[in-house]
Amino acid sequence: MYDNWENLEKSIIGCKKCKLCNNRTNIVFGYGNKNADVMFIGEGPGADEDIQGVPFVGKAGKLMDMAFEGLGINRSEVYIANIVKCRPPQNRVPEQDEADSCLNYLRNQVILVKPKIIVLLGSTALKNILGRELSITACRGKWIEKKGIHYMPTWHPAALLRDENKKIEFWRDLKQVVEKV
Ligand code: URA
Ligand code: SF4
Repeated sequence: MYDNWENLEKSIIGCKKCKLCNNRTNIVFGYGNKNADVMFIGEGPGADEDIQGVPFVGKAGKLMDMAFEGLGINRSEVYIANIVKCRPPQNRVPEQDEADSCLNYLRNQVILVKPKIIVLLGSTALKNILGRELSITACRGKWIEKKGIHYMPTWHPAALLRDENKKIEFWRDLKQVVEKV
């Protein structure tokens, strides 16, 4: 673990700890306020993120930004990262060995940001951070406290594109976050 951002960021340059290194254009490390109270964790970069090197800039990200705007959240005041930092082929779910290889970077990011609240965006974030046995359908919208951090599991923004009803729940979950900060 690194006690500063500079060394952590240096340590990931050219990372080949898992097979996702083979097809990436850019490592998508994270974005936003490194002292944020609220951190968002997604799954992994998609095509747009891979090209730009920034998390949640594609379709799902645009939808998340719209929710942010409505709730008075500014993208640059929170911190956004993913379970894996390199794009899985065809946007498939990261395999266990890939998530395991990459998770130490994310753990180090969490230690340095020291957020009060972590929003877990979808099943992959929930399972890798709080336990493989957990289901997003059962957990979403309910606070889970662990080691002084309050976790809010919610839908992945890409799921909102497929199911209109989930937009309302996503909004409600983020509203709880805004009210708690
Ligand atoms: N989906 C994710 O999980 N993360 C991103 O950065 C973009 C889309
Ligand atoms: Fe390294 Fe993570 Fe990319 Fe795998 S996904 S190559 S562990 S940065």
